[in-house]
Amino acid sequence: MEPGFELGEIDTTIPHPARIYDALLGGKDNYAADRDAVRRLLRAAPEARDSARANRAFLQRAVRYLVGEAGIRQIIDVGTGIPTAGNVHEVAGQIAPQTRVAYVDNDSVVHAHANALLTGTGTTSIVLADLRDPEAILTHPRVTELIDFTQPVALLLVAILHFITDDEDPARIVRTFRGALPPGSYLAISHATGDLRPQAAREAAAVYDEATSTVTLRSHAEIAAFFDGWDLIEPGLVQVPSWHPDNKPPRPKELGRAWIYGGVARKRG
Ligand SMILES: C[S@@+](CC[C@H](N)C(=O)[O-])C[C@H]1O[C@@H](n2cnc3c(N)ncnc32)[C@H](O)[C@@H]1O
Repeated sequence: MEPGFELGEIDTTIPHPARIYDALLGGKDNYAADRDAVRRLLRAAPEARDSARANRAFLQRAVRYLVGEAGIRQIIDVGTGIPTAGNVHEVAGQIAPQTRVAYVDNDSVVHAHANALLTGTGTTSIVLADLRDPEAILTHPRVTELIDFTQPVALLLVAILHFITDDEDPARIVRTFRGALPPGSYLAISHATGDLRPQAAREAAAVYDEATSTVTLRSHAEIAAFFDGWDLIEPGLVQVPSWHPDNKPPRPKELGRAWIYGGVARKRG
């Protein structure tokens, strides 16, 4: 049992962000309520599936950058998601097998799958905890056993901050992590936006009003503000397909279907 965190019953009748995302990506770890939410989501915004795929590809390129180019060897991944192809420790491990990854998620289904699939190597762990309580994450024994806070850390907040409402003060959450990480640490964020097609994005976000977490869409300027005190690396905060593309820069059609901004930044020393 997690200290300070009740392992709740899984209510399969209420759609959950992790399972909706799994269903969007074509996974099997979801229930009828999640698949129904996906149908409504795609009716409101057919772009949602491409946005989810583009986000997942951004996560993998960001991890390759952090481990390969920035030399990071320890990662805290808050909002892990249900394991699928190309999980963070697998991508990192292809470059540097000794990379340690502390996975954190507040969903019991993610926790169960991650325990079975992501851990057991001695270089990974999974913690059931909530981003809204960053202190609990930073002091959790399974995090402190794995992560050396005197050495640079990469914090991944990939497709999670839009599940935090303004009232829950996401900027304070990011600042708390910033205060705990040494200079030279990195922050990767991706976040859903309504900047491209505001009305359709609002309708898609409204599907989450019946889910366990609502979605707060934010503008480019609002998302960029999360990086206060960090130096964004090139190309800055951009639509995720434009962040360090593997091949040619994305075409306008692809960008039109990616309603997510992403960026990676380094903590000032
Ligand atoms: C859209 S998925 C993103 C998964 C992965 N980061 C990716 O980008 O592929 C969001 C994940 O964040 C988790 N999540 C949402 N709100 C959370 C919170 N307040 N604390 C911890 N995890 C949360 C969900 O359970 C889900 O697994």
